[in-house]
Formats: sequence, C-alpha cells, structure tokens
Amino acid sequence: MAKKKKAKKRIGILTGGGDCAGLNPAIKWATKGLLDPEMSEEFGNNFEVIGFRNGWAGVLNYDPKGKQDDYFIKLNEDVVRTWDRFGGTNLGSSRTNPLKNKQTLNKTLKNFEDLGLHALICIGGEDTNSVGHGLSLKGKNIVGIPKTIDKDLMGTDYSLGFSTAVEVIREEIGRLRTTAGSHNRIFVVETMGRHAGHLALQGGIAGGACMILIPEFDFDVDKVMEILNDRKKSGARYDIVVVAEGAKPAKMSKELTTDKDLDEFGHVRLGGIGTFLRKEIKKRDIAEVRSVVLSHLQRGGEPNHYDVRMGRAFGLAAAELIHREYFGRMVSMRDNCISSVPIYEAIRRDNDGKIMLNYVNIDVEYDVDRYIAKRRVMNMKMF
Ligand code: F6P
Repeated sequence: MAKKKKAKKRIGILTGGGDCAGLNPAIKWATKGLLDPEMSEEFGNNFEVIGFRNGWAGVLNYDPKGKQDDYFIKLNEDVVRTWDRFGGTNLGSSRTNPLKNKQTLNKTLKNFEDLGLHALICIGGEDTNSVGHGLSLKGKNIVGIPKTIDKDLMGTDYSLGFSTAVEVIREEIGRLRTTAGSHNRIFVVETMGRHAGHLALQGGIAGGACMILIPEFDFDVDKVMEILNDRKKSGARYDIVVVAEGAKPAKMSKELTTDKDLDEFGHVRLGGIGTFLRKEIKKRDIAEVRSVVLSHLQRGGEPNHYDVRMGRAFGLAAAELIHREYFGRMVSMRDNCISSVPIYEAIRRDNDGKIMLNYVNIDVEYDVDRYIAKRRVMNMKMF
C-alpha cells in the first residue's frame, strides 16, 4: 500500500577523485531513481536532487551568500536525459578532502545543515568513500557508489570505469602492434594502476601482450630480458610489454614517481617505469625499443556498453537505498548481483593504517615465472 507523501527532501550527488567513464550514467540513473514516481509513491518520498560541482569541493566550499551555481546544480530527468552518452563527469571532480582537518570537517558538517541536505550519494574510490564513511559516523546520511579504473576497491567485484579503461588499453595496443610489427620493435606500454595490477593484467590479456608486469609482484629485470631474448630467438618479430605504473623491479626500493607532490589524500603521482624498462632493453640491445604511457587516455572517452549498464544499475541501486533510508552503505556487485555493503567494508585499514585494497590474486591469476596471466583459468573469478 502506498505511503503518505512526505515533505520535499534534498538529496545531493557528487563524483570525487579521478574521473572515468561510467560516472555520467550513474548520475543520470541515480537522479531518475530518486525522482521515479513509482518508487517515490511506494516509499512515500518526495525528493529534490542537486549535483555538487567538483566533488567534495562543492560541499566544502559552499557559501550560502555565494552564487549557488558555483557549488551545485539542480538535477532532473530533463537535465540528465543524455548524460549516459558521455565520458568523464558532467558535475566535475576533485581530490578535495573535507576530512583534511577539524576546520574543514566542521565546515562540511555545517554546510550539510545550511544546504538542508537529507542525504548524499558519493561516487568514488577509496578516498571519496572514506570521506563518506567519516561523515556517516558523524550522523550524515551517505550512500556510496564504487568507481575506479584500478578496480582495487574492496567490498565489490566491480567499480565503474574499469571495463572502458581495459578497452582503451586493448585498442591502443592494437594500434601499437601495427607500428611495432612494421619496424620490428619492442613497445613498452605503461598503464595506470597505482597499487593493483587488474588494469594492466586484463588490458594486457585483451591486447595480447607477451609480458605483463604488475605492482603485486616485483619483477627481476634480468628475467624480463631473458624472456624477451627467448621470444626473439623463437621468431617473434616484435613484442608488446605491458607494465602498470605501480610495478617495480625487486631491486628498486620504491615505485617511480613523476613528481614528489602529494594530493590531499597523501598520494604521489606514479610514472616512469615504462621509460626505465625501455632504457634497460636498449642497454642490452635486444631490439629497437619504444615506450608509451597511456596515462589519462584510459580514463577518457565515452563509456562502453558495460560501464553504461553498470552505471545505470549502480545509480538506481543507490537511489533505492536512499528511498529505503538504508544509509551508510556502498552499492556493490557480488557474484554478478547488485547489492550493497556497509561503506566501512570498502575502506577498512590494516595495522599500519593503510586502506586495504583488492589486489590481483597472484596464486590464482598470475604466472610468476612467465610474467603473464596464468593459463589455468578454471574457477578463476572474472568480473
Ligand atoms: O586512482 C585512479 C588513478 O587513475 C590511478 O590509476 C592513477 O595513479 C591516478 O588516478 C592518477 O591521478 P591524477 O588524475 O590525479 O593524475
């Protein structure tokens, strides 16, 4: 039986951290789910939806005396109608951290009140969801949606953006293959993947790389050269090696970085391992060698079919959690079903205070002798 319609309540949506494909579909369908006449009727809700600009920055910097449009925009079915066709996030994103200090936290909590915010959907990875969790502990009504092309978030088998990024890697390797073949060259392709190698591994498999180096397993430079030499001897005219930005040789104490600056969540920018390997290959004169950093190409472009569909499913699920007043949870995919987990499950910390991540399972997925995906795939979990 339909419940009596309640007074209008304001729900916010934001996208935090690195952008990726799949965010706009999630915003669109969260909005449509929140405003859905059937669900509103069933749960007796009457929502107004706003989208914060530039992630947590929109919430933190909100000034009731300022220009509203600088902080948020109103979302409805007309506004978001075509959003699922586009990559990135039409709301904008940032790595702003409202939990940076007491002052920013208090300002954020006050802004929740000033904005009359009943609940907030935050779409992001470990950082965005850890802020969501922190605010949840302060009594705010939060629902999370997982996104990160690294697919390293706990509590879910899928996070938005991963599938499209894998597709980009496959396509780019396809392009490099023709030029590598024409010149009998080795190409080293550096992918993103700060701590986890899912992107490099799956992108490398999809693109047919001969070797894939991932952060979960420190490699031996001599062994890499041996494998390339063996391939040459057995007739390979060219080769594609994929290396994740967070991968490193066993003898190197730390991952290579592009600069030393930290973002508000304490992350450095990784990069340089592709160039390092190119130089090592050149030194040994195995073949002519070039390196390519795929970088933000992996995050750009329109979402593929999977990220459009998963964005829809995750967005609608987040809306339903809010209709049901089921807060402090993150939407999740488990065993191919859409469900939810307490946000806490996605951002638990280990004894050193580091957020626990979902890594490539070396025993099951990675061949540590051949530096490539395992050939025994029975019972292996695919996304
Ligand atoms: O966290 C996702 C990610 O794409 C990482 O793979 C990468 O290290 C990082 O973001 C890059 O961030 P930025 O866009 O701030 O350079």
